[in-house]
Amino acid sequence: MTQPRHLLSITDLGAEGIQDVMRLTDSFVEVSERAIPKVPALRGKTVVSLFFEDSTRTRLSFETAAKRLSADTMNFSVSTSSVKKGESLRDTVETIEAMGVDAMVVRHSGAGVPWQVAAWSRGSSVINAGDGWHEHPTQALLDCYTIRQQRQSLEGLRIAIVGDIRHSRVARSDVLAFSALGASVTLVAPPTLLPPSLAGWPAEVSHDLDEVAPKCDVVYLLRLQRERMQEALLPSLREYTATYGLTRARARLLKDDALIMHPGPVNRGVEIAAEVADRPNSVITRQVANGVAVRMAVLFLLIGSGVDLAVH
Ligand code: ASP
Ligand code: CP
Repeated sequence: MTQPRHLLSITDLGAEGIQDVMRLTDSFVEVSERAIPKVPALRGKTVVSLFFEDSTRTRLSFETAAKRLSADTMNFSVSTSSVKKGESLRDTVETIEAMGVDAMVVRHSGAGVPWQVAAWSRGSSVINAGDGWHEHPTQALLDCYTIRQQRQSLEGLRIAIVGDIRHSRVARSDVLAFSALGASVTLVAPPTLLPPSLAGWPAEVSHDLDEVAPKCDVVYLLRLQRERMQEALLPSLREYTATYGLTRARARLLKDDALIMHPGPVNRGVEIAAEVADRPNSVITRQVANGVAVRMAVLFLLIGSGVDLAVH
């Protein structure tokens, strides 16, 4: 496959590119299972995490992925940086790049910021680790990988994405990736938690989780992103859980082998009952584990040798 420079949107990859990342991830899952889970594939390369928004999974899994590939890592924390002294995003990016980095992993509350960083970058690759409400492509890749691992393929699967679609960059990237791989997606949410326009979303919409639940192969819950809500969009949390939460009672409607997924962080008792999140067909921690191998594949694809994409 040709070597892309940046990963900004899931559409940068298309169906073929997503499949290529999946195959490459298989090799890195194997590396991750070794007694010493490390390969010298990115020795001499430097990966920096530029996180302007909070993160546990994405930040730590990129760092782990880079280390397992023998890259050097740099961590940028806004709260202890010169951003606090008024330094602009552009100056921050140029300063970090001047130190000689090969990849910048960027999370920011502003939609489009990773594209802006890519436009400023002189030679390094930029990876979107979540931009505002817009996209989170590596989350979509690890979600596709997790479903493929459990079901061999996404072709023909029925996937329900439930909850705060409006504020979710995960939903945007997932809908694009799942549908590119042949799944049919239904968005289940109250009208106030859907985007103002669904033009360009290859998905159906429902407001009735009880009706959708028995038909789906995968139910993907989303957190209510209250940090992004400027107005009251819900009558009450209790009512939301009663209507759209995967409660114990509602989980009984699911097919026996339906997968339960969530990008994390989970608000137990709100979008999903604690006991349901811990069931054997819940693959939430598998998603996190796969996130490391998927991010190894993405880093290797963007800044690896390029010509020889075999894993050494
Ligand atoms: N961790 C995901 C994100 O950053 C989902 C969430 O925060 O609810 O988009
Ligand atoms: N799923 C996800 O992006 O988690 P973090 O916000 O913890 O990185």
